[in-house]
Amino acid sequence: MFRAGGGPAGAPEVWNMPLIKWTFALEVKVRALDADHQNLVRLLNEFYDAAQGGHGAAVLNDTLDRLVEYTNAHFAREEALLEKHDYPELADHRIAHQRLREQVQTYRASLDGATPPSDAEVAMFLKNWLTRHIMTQDQAYSVFLRERGER
Ligand SMILES: [Fe+2]
Ligand SMILES: [Fe+2]
Repeated sequence: MFRAGGGPAGAPEVWNMPLIKWTFALEVKVRALDADHQNLVRLLNEFYDAAQGGHGAAVLNDTLDRLVEYTNAHFAREEALLEKHDYPELADHRIAHQRLREQVQTYRASLDGATPPSDAEVAMFLKNWLTRHIMTQDQAYSVFLRERGER
């Protein structure tokens, strides 16, 4: 499914490791949620490493399982905190989380499909899938939660 031995010759910069670096742009300034997001970034990088290392489907599926499991737990924690404070955008935020869950399911199915994604597609999927959500929709609740005393 994945080419063994890392990225292709003349690989784009996305092959530099780690795939995703923790930056201030990902911080929502609420400790528990930042800790979750940091773990998610670590799991995304682990999946990327596994894909790059030319591991078999079993290793990739295990790594993806851990990522999905942790993602679901994080979404539940985040939604509970937003619910506690009556976040006005909660309904939309839940929908966004549901879409991310569906995306990763579709992606997972494609790994075992007749035309699995290329290495570069794997990298781009992982990079965009969750980090875009954290940088936009999660960032949007940061001030709201801090104004309600969450740290
Ligand atoms: Fe989040
Ligand atoms: Fe979120």
